[in-house]
Amino acid sequence: MIHFDDEKSKAAIKAFTLSRDDIEMTAAALRYDIGLALKNDERTSLNLLPSHVGLPSGNEQGDFLALDFGGSNLRAARVRLANGKATVVSKKDKPLGNLTGASTTASELFDFIAALVDDAAGHDHTTPMMLGHTFSFPSKPTDDGDAILQYWTKEFAVKGVEGQKVNALLASSLEKIGASNIKPVAIINDTVATLLASAYTVGDTFMSSIYSTGFNVSYLERFGGKERADILDMNAGGFTKVITNYYDQHLEDETDRADEQKLEKMVSGRYIGELMRLALADITRRDDLPNMTSSDVAAIYDGNDAGKKILTDILGDDTDEASQDAAMHLAEAVLRRSAALAAAIFCGTLWHQDANIPQHIAVDGSLYKKVPLIQNTVHDTMTELLKDEPLNMRPDIVTIDDASLIGAAIAATMKK
Ligand code: BGC
Repeated sequence: MIHFDDEKSKAAIKAFTLSRDDIEMTAAALRYDIGLALKNDERTSLNLLPSHVGLPSGNEQGDFLALDFGGSNLRAARVRLANGKATVVSKKDKPLGNLTGASTTASELFDFIAALVDDAAGHDHTTPMMLGHTFSFPSKPTDDGDAILQYWTKEFAVKGVEGQKVNALLASSLEKIGASNIKPVAIINDTVATLLASAYTVGDTFMSSIYSTGFNVSYLERFGGKERADILDMNAGGFTKVITNYYDQHLEDETDRADEQKLEKMVSGRYIGELMRLALADITRRDDLPNMTSSDVAAIYDGNDAGKKILTDILGDDTDEASQDAAMHLAEAVLRRSAALAAAIFCGTLWHQDANIPQHIAVDGSLYKKVPLIQNTVHDTMTELLKDEPLNMRPDIVTIDDASLIGAAIAATMKK
């Protein structure tokens, strides 16, 4: 029977606990960084990426192919748009499996993607079809409507894609299988897709987020009316002005890209399990604990039988009640910190927008949708940080299903 060192568990829980001031400071620093980035001031830690798509008018319509590539699961679908209603007519998905690492080449990856798109198109190699592509990694749009991958995130490492035009790679794989009738006409980030999907189907949406394997936020930048408004992909996961702890630093030492995507490593599902594992390893003075997922952390917090079994499996033995309790509080602290930071990013962005108009924030992503503690903490933190703001500056959060697929189709119609 395992018993946790009391002092060590208390210290680990404390390390993941942010004060209200810490959270408010993070929100203020984010707001300041957006301002710096817009003035091209190098002191910013943000890389604001233009999308070159404004808000949809609501009149977009037609049938489109949509591709969603950005996490461990690849999805392709036919999407129908009509009068502000989006329908995913048919959907195919496939896990990327081991195609995300450095031993995979660009053509292996894009041949695999093209095969799924071909599947979704019903292997029709004659009817001209337009494809919208949600590609969820920091990418810069090019003048010909393509986008160049700047660098991989979420531990993807496929060779030969960074610095390349992504839709050109996809088009060449489609051509190889005789599917040149499918034209990738648009490529956007998943947060931009989420904003488009919500603006089209719900309305009044000027900010969006993906809170899942990765974390990011986009918003509508109005440039003080001096330029055409554009949806900017903040690549918020790359924000660095955050208060890190011992476990965050340890995690940095393990990842291929140390000091990149700092905020994402504290917030997103790709890293939550590892943070918890590092803390448990420290508390129990072990260095042989197996990998954990964010679902494991959520289950340990729930404290039900499934969560207790996960803890036993990880530690290789039962824990006494006090230690189970400590593990539960630790899981809570890791999840709460993630949500409080996400809320800080939303508030900092709102303060930058300073738009006293009713609005929704659109969110998609499994970590947000499946973990009530995350949802509640985001809500409570925002309520606290915005309590002195006028009512319109206190937006509600709407969750959007299939946002990436729907947004990709909307982008295709806007670019056609
Ligand atoms: C990527 C973003 C993306 C986010 C959510 C991050 O790792 O850098 O571009 O929006 O994940 O998928």
